[in-house]
Amino acid sequence: MGKKAIEIVDLEVKKLVETLNQALSEEWLAYYQYWIGARVMSGPMHGEIEKELYKHADEELRHAEMLARRIIELDGTPVLSPEDWPLLSKCKYEAPVDAYIESILKQNLASERCAIHRYETLARLTDGRDFTTFSLATQILADEVEHESDLESWLNDIRVFRESLMAVPV
Ligand SMILES: [Fe+2]
Ligand SMILES: [Fe+2]
Repeated sequence: MGKKAIEIVDLEVKKLVETLNQALSEEWLAYYQYWIGARVMSGPMHGEIEKELYKHADEELRHAEMLARRIIELDGTPVLSPEDWPLLSKCKYEAPVDAYIESILKQNLASERCAIHRYETLARLTDGRDFTTFSLATQILADEVEHESDLESWLNDIRVFRESLMAVPV
């Protein structure tokens, strides 16, 4: 990173890089949570929702790329081994052992809520102190907020669908 670019970061850069590596690990785990969950998922509306989960997965991967670039700009090293992801991540990866669509979506929802907390915290930490990372945090935060909203609305659609089936007289 350029000398001036480092000087204008009014934070301990080493600690900031550690935080960004935690977020990077979380993005890879979130990516895989979506990617594998979408593949094994079954239940109502799974055909339409599956495609949307792949779009979310792609966005998590894009976030990982943004974080890795920023870490390198800060003269840091992005996490190099996948085995470190669960050690660094503050968000839990949950294996989709129950393939029912509502279970899969709930796992993704928990992951999104953890991500929202991550980027809200990162935005507050960098606000007025590191404009570049602040901008990155708010851009990613906006995506995670949208992801949470998508998941909540699909879960609601499935619930309404399930209730409508139960209401059918036999
Ligand atoms: Fe993300
Ligand atoms: Fe997300």
